[in-house]
Amino acid sequence: MNLWVSMEDEGAATSDAEAFERALSNLAPHLDAVGASKPQFSPYKPLRFEDQVRVLLDTRVPAFSFIYGIPPKEILLECHRQGILTIGTATTRDEAIAVEEAGVDVVVASGFEAGGHRGSFLRSSEDSLTGTISLVPQIVDAVGVPVVAAGGIADARGIAAAFALGAQGAQMGTVFLACEESGATTLHREAILSGKAGRTSLTRGFTGRLARGIHNQLLEEMNGPGVAVLPYPLQRALMRNLAVPAQQAGRSEFLALWAGQSAGIAQYPDVATLLQSLVNGVSEELV
Ligand SMILES: Cc1cc2nc3c(=O)[nH]c(=O)nc-3n(C[C@H](O)[C@H](O)[C@H](O)COP(=O)(O)O)c2cc1C
Repeated sequence: MNLWVSMEDEGAATSDAEAFERALSNLAPHLDAVGASKPQFSPYKPLRFEDQVRVLLDTRVPAFSFIYGIPPKEILLECHRQGILTIGTATTRDEAIAVEEAGVDVVVASGFEAGGHRGSFLRSSEDSLTGTISLVPQIVDAVGVPVVAAGGIADARGIAAAFALGAQGAQMGTVFLACEESGATTLHREAILSGKAGRTSLTRGFTGRLARGIHNQLLEEMNGPGVAVLPYPLQRALMRNLAVPAQQAGRSEFLALWAGQSAGIAQYPDVATLLQSLVNGVSEELV
């Protein structure tokens, strides 16, 4: 089970109707284009990390991984008491050291090639953009716990490279997202598998936090000058008003198409074929 330790950004609790209207104005023409009605402002209702953690402790999941910070000490202690493996995510060497010092069992070194959000927590995400090939050996040298490489690994060559850099595991997201078993929509999966996903970009425009997706019309617009973006998670909630009708209308240019930099070489539409290719390929790469 995976959780986000920090679930809201500064200003979310006080963001008002005026800020909502400003952010909504970027989307208004697209909402019209897909026949969606305009959402109304409603004050933010926070979710509590502690409530989510209670579920995983009560369920006794085998492993608890997390991003965007480090859970409070008593939660990590409780995990250890229950034999739950803890896995923290670092986007810089300093974050990896902090994760290890907190007593976490495994560190994921997440390079900036990765699809989806940057889980940075010591510095801003924009100031924590290190590529996987640079980040993994820095973290391997800095910590004693096992390191898992993440970001831009899309096939057996990437896994072999991660091992060569000292990682003991590889975490892959985008290539699994392209498989029919994933929760991604057909439009999203097709975009990754189209062979045209070579250009990805980072944006705060889709959720309020920096994340990587395929560079489509919406991403281009949201990264434009002067575009108002609400603090996380309010921007995410706002964008959902466009995502659902855009999907129904088949308009992938209006969707957040999360993907990492190696999306262009994703090729397998189901998990069995993907995993078979990884297992066979890694065996060949490592002989
Ligand atoms: C759509 C999407 C959602 C993700 N959500 C999470 C998440 O909630 N928690 C997390 O730790 N990592 C998350 N990740 C990161 C993946 O676990 C993984 O580290 C990353 O995708 C690896 O890079 P790759 O996309 O280049 O394979 C997500 C990735 C994607 C593409």
